[in-house]
Amino acid sequence: MKIGLCSDHAGFELKQYIEKLLKERGLEYCDFGTNSSESCDYPDYAHPLAVAVEKGEVYPGIAVCGTGNGICMTLNKHQGVRAALCWNEEIARLCRAHNDANVLVLPGRFISTDEALRVIDIFLNTPFEGGRHLRRIQKIPIS
Ligand code: RB5
Repeated sequence: MKIGLCSDHAGFELKQYIEKLLKERGLEYCDFGTNSSESCDYPDYAHPLAVAVEKGEVYPGIAVCGTGNGICMTLNKHQGVRAALCWNEEIARLCRAHNDANVLVLPGRFISTDEALRVIDIFLNTPFEGGRHLRRIQKIPIS
């Protein structure tokens, strides 16, 4: 399965580092844009990524905007998406272990490249614990 990537202009630079990391690891990805640092609107990139996650075309997703909030809010409008804003490794671990997050959201303007790459490693390598957490995430969708 390919990893899905997207960002707005504020996340573009970090997205480029992420692409480099994924290439080095030999991991396949699909880039939903944006493709430059020119100002743009994060929903234009978040919605296509969310739809692809819901259809099972990519998994997981990684999304970046300036704070992470706008792109996270947009992604989570989709009922099949559990997007988690992560700014350190422990939050990344818990969003996988407890929430089975299927999109990692990073705050491009508020996280170092090194920390972001560590967060990605943890996110990609932490399994969902299931059990009581499965019951809880099954109660998240509203339709
Ligand atoms: C762009 O300036 C910025 O508003 C955006 O990247 C994000 O932080 C919004 O939530």
